[in-house]
Amino acid sequence: MNHQHEIISVIPFLHGNPAYYVSSLNVLKQLSDKERFMEKPRELMTAVLLWGENLLSANGEMWKRHRRIVNPAFNQSTYGLVVKETIATYREMVMAEGWTADSQNQLSNFNEIPKKLALIIISRCGFGLPATWADESNPAKPSYGKTLGIVSETLISRLVIPKWVYSLPVESVRNIDHTWRNLAIDMEQLVVRRCEELNESKATSKRHGDDIFTRLVSAMDDDAKYGLTRSEVIGNTFALMFAGHETTAHVLAATFGLLALHQDEQEKGVKEILQVLGTERDPASPPSVVPQMTFTLIVLIRHSRICLICLIFLLASTRHYESTVRVSFFRT
Ligand code: HEM
Repeated sequence: MNHQHEIISVIPFLHGNPAYYVSSLNVLKQLSDKERFMEKPRELMTAVLLWGENLLSANGEMWKRHRRIVNPAFNQSTYGLVVKETIATYREMVMAEGWTADSQNQLSNFNEIPKKLALIIISRCGFGLPATWADESNPAKPSYGKTLGIVSETLISRLVIPKWVYSLPVESVRNIDHTWRNLAIDMEQLVVRRCEELNESKATSKRHGDDIFTRLVSAMDDDAKYGLTRSEVIGNTFALMFAGHETTAHVLAATFGLLALHQDEQEKGVKEILQVLGTERDPASPPSVVPQMTFTLIVLIRHSRICLICLIFLLASTRHYESTVRVSFFRT
């Protein structure tokens, strides 16, 4: 990567379209204004479109429709639930792994821990699924969350392997096919079950959950202009799992890794947590003390910027245009 220039123009001779690569956040902000002339190129959305249209792949009016349904689910009560479920999952993890306060444990593959944690939190808070640490650790009985994890890891293989290859007697390839087919069936059943639960709670005037999945399924009731089709519900379910799981897991893994390398900073975090929480208070009991942990929050936010989860934003112009963008020549 050439870091000397903020804008590089590439004109391929043999294949592909000309492109500009821009590394200026300022210019990116001006160009990516979704109301204007740039949109996510359809031909590069194949991976996120495998299960149906969704917020990640959509542009224009379709993006607004999906966003109107999904956005309200990201609210203070969801964030409160995330805190509560993270604490509960942490306790389950410590118990299931047999860790005690005075034991020293060497972890050979630390990355797996935040991965499993993120999957459980999203399954519980986003989709109201009863995922547990023990379920996710059981290789004999793959859970819904685990299957989703395998599917997101084999996404590229699924895209490039031609259909006929799945009929060959190659176990690894057959396993991919088997997992993807099972997940399709599971998802359909999940939608049907949640529809039934929604109808039941309507009939008994009981309040139903406000998790992301419930919002998606209840939008199937609305008319076509504002609602979602069944395949869009499944497309969004997968897209949200996909967008939320690996990103969160990688940020957590990188943060813990860097803190381990900079133990003085890690110590500051431990001190702050102990100072805010004390040793007696149950961290799950309201009011939330998370906003008071300013140092710890800054560490997490800064690492989510440093460890570049999203390496590249792909945008294509929808029409010929001339635009003036302000480029800052001062490096910060
Ligand atoms: C530390 C964790 C995360 C990071 C670093 C991250 C990063 C990003 C980035 C860079 C984008 C692109 C923004 C754009 O195109 O304007 C994005 C979009 C998105 N993310 Fe995340 N994300 C994280 C967690 C999550 C979680 C937990 C969820 C859902 C459960 C999620 C769902 C989405 C969705 C749906 C979009 C598309 C939004 C839209 O087009 O309106 N992300 N994320």
